[in-house]
Amino acid sequence: MSTTDPHDAPVATPDVVLCPEGPMLLRGRHVLEDADGRRHETTRPVTAVCRCGKSQSAPWCDGTHKLLPPKVRP
Ligand code: FES
Repeated sequence: MSTTDPHDAPVATPDVVLCPEGPMLLRGRHVLEDADGRRHETTRPVTAVCRCGKSQSAPWCDGTHKLLPPKVRP
C-alpha cells in the first residue's frame, strides 16, 4: 500500500507573501474583510495589503510603512 504525503507535493508559487517590514502581497483574486466587517475584493494581479496600520488607503498599502522607524514596522 502506498500513501501520498501532501507535504511531498511540489510547492506551488505562494499566493500570499509577507514582506519583511512591509505589506502582505496577495496574488490573484481574494476577498478581504477589514476590522469593521467591510469586504474588499482584490482586482490586480498582485495586491499589497497594509500590515502597519498607518496606510491612508486601508486596507491597501500606500507605502507609508517606509516612513516608519524600523522598530514599529510590521
Ligand atoms: S504596510 Fe505599507 S502602508 Fe502599511
